[in-house]
Amino acid sequence: MSNYQIAPSILSADFARLGEEVRNVVAAGADIIHFDVMDNHYVPNLTIGPLVCQAIRPHVQVPIDVHLMVKPVDRLIPDFAKAGANIITFHPEASDHIDRSLQLIRDSGCQAGLVFNPGTPMHYLNHVMDKIDMILIMSVNPGFGGQSFIGEALKKLSIARRMIVESGRAIRLEVDGGIKVDNIRAAAEAGADTFVAGSAIFGQPDYKDVIDAMRAELAKVAR
Ligand code: DX5
Ligand code: ZN
Repeated sequence: MSNYQIAPSILSADFARLGEEVRNVVAAGADIIHFDVMDNHYVPNLTIGPLVCQAIRPHVQVPIDVHLMVKPVDRLIPDFAKAGANIITFHPEASDHIDRSLQLIRDSGCQAGLVFNPGTPMHYLNHVMDKIDMILIMSVNPGFGGQSFIGEALKKLSIARRMIVESGRAIRLEVDGGIKVDNIRAAAEAGADTFVAGSAIFGQPDYKDVIDAMRAELAKVAR
């Protein structure tokens, strides 16, 4: 698999200079902008909403990948679609009607995905694979940037990869949380093709150095 995508999470960017930050990280080689939405209800932190998505939209051409850590889910979907989101993912246990939420995302013109916390079972996928464009495996518990990678996520990536292959569908497999240069290759070998990294990229002075180093690691993945 050579179609790897790096998705910097702006959670660790300098919010006072967000337009410049997203332009710089795309110039450094980012394929996607990962946009973490937290509501101080589903997760114990509060971040950014559709207005900020709308504000950064004109600054970059790459897809904006909105990761909703909110409950309830549906209320915000049309707002993010209007604000320029391209991909919207949510946590299945935060929606009372998963199939409806997925359909609402697609009806809004976006790609749809489900997110799995370290303790969330994968069975939520069983009857909705035909409505999914992305599966996101959390390798930390959601709510904060800068946490350590939870190794159990590698097993879940393998399970998700198997389910995707069996479905025969073009579903992306994203991993989020604690991704660094030294573990990105293991995540790819377990099946991930899309890599969220917040503190690893925005925590360093030269974003291109980090993204290049991540791509060099991905180039070593056994095929
Ligand atoms: C955690 C967020 C992540 C986070 C990743 O709830 O979903 O996207 O920002 O940050 P790092 O890469 O620092 O773990
Ligand atoms: Zn995220």
